[in-house]
Amino acid sequence: MNSWVNSAEILGSDLPLELSGTGNRRALLMDALREAVRSGRLAPGTRLPPYRSLAADLGLARNTVADAYAELVAEGWLAARQGSGTRVAERAAPVTPVHRPRTPERAARPVHDLVQGQPDPSVFPRTAWLASARRALAAAPDDAFGPGDPHGRPELRRALAGYLARVRGVRATPERIVICSGAAHGLRLLAEVVGGPWAAEEYGLPFHRELLASHGVGTRPLGVDADGARVDGLTRRDRAVLLTPAHQFPTGGPLHPARRAAVVDWARATGGLVVEDDYDGEFRYDRQPVGAVQGLDPEHVVLVGSVSKSLSPALRIGWMVLPQRLVAPVVAAKGEREQFSSATEQLTLADFIESGAYDRQVRRMRQRHRRRRDQLVAALHARAPHVRVTGIAAGLHAVVELPPGTERSAVRAAAWQGLAVEGLGDYLHPGAENALLAAPADDTPAPRRDGLVVGYATPAESAYPEALEALCRSLPPAAPPAAAPPSAATPAPAPPPPTAAP
Ligand SMILES: Cc1ncc(COP(=O)(O)O)c(C=O)c1O
Repeated sequence: MNSWVNSAEILGSDLPLELSGTGNRRALLMDALREAVRSGRLAPGTRLPPYRSLAADLGLARNTVADAYAELVAEGWLAARQGSGTRVAERAAPVTPVHRPRTPERAARPVHDLVQGQPDPSVFPRTAWLASARRALAAAPDDAFGPGDPHGRPELRRALAGYLARVRGVRATPERIVICSGAAHGLRLLAEVVGGPWAAEEYGLPFHRELLASHGVGTRPLGVDADGARVDGLTRRDRAVLLTPAHQFPTGGPLHPARRAAVVDWARATGGLVVEDDYDGEFRYDRQPVGAVQGLDPEHVVLVGSVSKSLSPALRIGWMVLPQRLVAPVVAAKGEREQFSSATEQLTLADFIESGAYDRQVRRMRQRHRRRRDQLVAALHARAPHVRVTGIAAGLHAVVELPPGTERSAVRAAAWQGLAVEGLGDYLHPGAENALLAAPADDTPAPRRDGLVVGYATPAESAYPEALEALCRSLPPAAPPAAAPPSAATPAPAPPPPTAAP
């Protein structure tokens, strides 16, 4: 490893920089220094060489270096303190393209985290889980400690069949349920068994699209509007369609009832498969939960679910409720023995559901998420009344809609505030993005939507208010009111408050 990369002391007065290009030397030096900070080569807190020695090393006038330092201090990249020279500012954290290549503006060590994804890990119900684990272990038959059936433990499949029917309107028998290690694993198995190509909502989890692609299944983007996926775009060529009907991910609305019926009609007419990713169906706040599409036609819809949003993604337990014809092939695709899900964890979850602890946890989390959601809406109403917040009726995240063209700068501004948050564009299918770019001028494709996907469930209770503060500071200011035409004497209407759009 290059020892000078991160060490302020060794760096001392040696800072090799490439001033590429012609033109103003001060600007070139500033660009090189910004890039060194941005890339992480100069870590926050690193002391820069005295401007005299850097000027000598680079063959520049001292004033040029002194001016560049001063401007970078003014921009916030550097910090100058009496007696300790000039250092890289603490806030000027390097980006980390390693884990999240699609959000290079994410700070390396964000102070606040509003990236959607997981529930607050500190609220995992340890005591209740432990109680279930004890009971499950004590009651486990000896065969639970054998090699394991890839179909999944019968105790868990029975518990899930009852729970999913009661809560999600799923039509399931234990035989139709196959246990997997989360939705991602389920999709992998379905890709293998069903083959491609699939259609997928143009806004969706990139990880799922990539995972399908890595299993030979390409996805074609389906438009998404306020009524959910444009299922009228499905064709006979599509072997399956991946949908999030209860709560479109990440834009937020439920699939319109007419489209729910239409997608089932498409599946019946073409033999295609509807893959229903029911990732947060239990978390609906202002209305009754939206039942699963699977309930409309269990022979053409696979419901995929997991405990990742309701309990923890660490458990790696999920399920598929399959059409009868797919049960045997999917079980076969898992292999001869259970290789993915621990039998004791499955038994624990079965007890957790049967004992009512799962319902209690979901209800507790629903209240908590609703409170968080209300705090988010209230903060935006007070601090940024010009933005709309949508997708708030359900789930663990919402979308803060932004004026066109401001999303990337808002994500960058958030990184600058030490806030990790993602833009809607991070979820857009690359095919949809290309279609937008390639659309002829006389065609009018749906405009690209700018917005931030705000996960409000993740931060610890004490960290949430500050995360919201950082979010509000990151938003673009309200556009200045348009100049009034000479005849218009009335003032412009006040900007609408954040909406309660579903
Ligand atoms: C859209 C979506 N589907 C499903 C899941 C669950 O994935 P898994 O069960 O593989 O953790 C997530 C993440 O939690 C998600 O964001």
